[in-house]
Parts: sequence; structure tokens; C-alpha cells
Amino acid sequence: MQTVLSGIRPTGNLHLGNYFGAVKNFVKMQENNNCYFFIADYHSLTTHPKPEDLQENVRKVLSEYIACGLDPEKSTIYIQSDMPQVAELYLLLGMNAYVGELERTTTFKEKVRKQPENVNAGLLTYAVLMAADILIHNAHKVPVGKDQEQHLEMTRKFAQRFNRIYEVDYFNIPEPYNFGEKLVKVPGLDGSGKMGKSEGNAISLIDEPKVIRKKVMKAVTDAGPAEQNSTKPEPVQNLFSLMELVSNKDTISYFNDKYNACEIRYGDLKKQLAEDIIVFTTPIRERILDIYNNSEYLNKIMKIGKEKAIESGSKTISEVRKIIGFKPF
Ligand code: TRP
Repeated sequence: MQTVLSGIRPTGNLHLGNYFGAVKNFVKMQENNNCYFFIADYHSLTTHPKPEDLQENVRKVLSEYIACGLDPEKSTIYIQSDMPQVAELYLLLGMNAYVGELERTTTFKEKVRKQPENVNAGLLTYAVLMAADILIHNAHKVPVGKDQEQHLEMTRKFAQRFNRIYEVDYFNIPEPYNFGEKLVKVPGLDGSGKMGKSEGNAISLIDEPKVIRKKVMKAVTDAGPAEQNSTKPEPVQNLFSLMELVSNKDTISYFNDKYNACEIRYGDLKKQLAEDIIVFTTPIRERILDIYNNSEYLNKIMKIGKEKAIESGSKTISEVRKIIGFKPF
């Protein structure tokens, strides 16, 4: 069985795009892999969150992912800062990471541009910590989005470098995890492209029905088709694509027929779409809130995750220390 690992940013509010994208695949991934999922709260310190928000954010994200199907019985789910071994591996890997290559990292250069007042060393060594996250469990595979590909490439480089320097074949060289089938593209409500948090066109899983109705009613459309059976321009196609995800077949063909006959009323379509989204997200929202409000359950899950993560991490650290040449006196 292969070990697959993924780090999750502690920024809450998963939206439908996340749900039908990465999250759904994570849930499936658990079936036939030894999975580790952790909340990257050490990494989040690079942007200086307030102490009172730090744990709050972690609890929110955990509740959301568990409500969506990450399963603490099948996978190891833990908090990065619960596992000090990762900090030690980060220190050790840092000795063989070169300032030049770290400065050339795209995400680092971006951060320098975005937060020039806070170019801390943690930002510079972000990729080293990420490599430590992955190598601490000697993962074979890591699911990565476009923005994280370079980090995984650097992890591979650090792992190879370690093996070469110490003349061992210790670390696996981790590869990207491919989700097999094509990723579902979930469009946003603004008539352009993909649903995304920063685009402001997203429906969150935690949104109340009235918020969902309001967002959907405001979605961009057009003046309506001029000819029968015409192709749908993007904003309209987007609404139909969302329907494909949450509505039943009869509803979809009803509105398709209306569109093709030039009789479509976008107000009706939006009303129906909003209700179907609500039916879909309501049980998820309720699960998120149940978990979030059940501290006892969350604490228990985190305690189990922490123990499993530490067991795997301590094994790696003691072997790495030996390879490097640390010996007990
Ligand atoms: N950097 C990742 C992100 O921003 C989160 C992350 C931290 C991660 N450590 C990881 C992802 C290790 C995969 C593997 O999304």
C-alpha cells in the first residue's frame, strides 16, 4: 500500500468547487492508500495570524473536511504543530537547502511582492518545511494543485540530495498523485471561469439557505437566446453546469428544453438551482456544525491523529539522526 500525504491550509469555508474537486478525491483516495492529512498550522505562521484565531481556524477546517468524508478511522488526520518531529526534520533538511534555490521559488517571490513588510525567514524556507511534512512519513505520493507543483519538485530535490550526500536509499522520491479521471470543473456565479474563494463567486458549504438564494439570484446571465437551439454563452452554461452537479435529470432537461425553445426565464432557473443547492449542502452544513460544536469528539480525533503521526514521525527522525551521524553517548 502506498503512503499518500496532503497538507491542508487552515483557511476555512470550503466551497462547492473545493467539494467537487480536491475534497471528493481525498475521500476516495482513502480507500486504497495509507493516507495522512494534516492541517498546516506551522506554515500559516508565515502570515502572522492572531493567537486567538490560530486554533479556531484549525477547528473550522477540520470540521469541514471531516463533515465531507475524511475519515479518522481510515486515515491519519492530525495537526502539523502536534508533531514536533516535523520541526526537527525541517531543521536538518535546512542544512542542505541553499539560499539561492529558496530565493528562486515562485511562491516566495510572490510573497515578497505581496507582503513586502513581512518577508520572514519562514517564507523563505516554506518549501523546506513542506518537504519535511512529506518526508517525515516517507510518502510516495502527494496530490498537488498547480500552485504547489514547484514545492513538490523541491521536495524531490531535497530527498535525492539527502540520499546522495549520505549515500543511502532512505527517502522515497515523492511523486504527484493523479486523480485518474478528469477533475470536475465547477464554475463560479460571475459568468467567468472557476469557482474560487478569492474570486468572490463561490457558494460555501456553510452558507445559510438565504445566503445561497441571494448569491444565486445575483448570478450573471444574459438577455436570453435569440434563436432556438443556440449554444449557451458562458454565464448561462455555467448555471447549467452547476445544475448538473446538484439537480435531478428532469429538472435539467426541463430548463434545457425551455432554453432551446427560447422560453427560458432565468429567474425561474435560478430559483430552482438555489433550492437544489440548498438541498445538497444542508446535510453537509449540519454535519459541519455538529462536529464543530462537539469539542469532545474533535479533541478525541486529534489525540488519536497526533499519536499515529508521532509514531510514524519518531521512527523517521531516529533513523535520519543515525544516518546523519548523531549517536547516543
Ligand atoms: N503549501 C500547501 C498549500 O498551501 C499546504 C501544505 C503544507 C502541503 N505542507 C504540505 C501540501 C505538504 C502537500 C504536502 O496548499
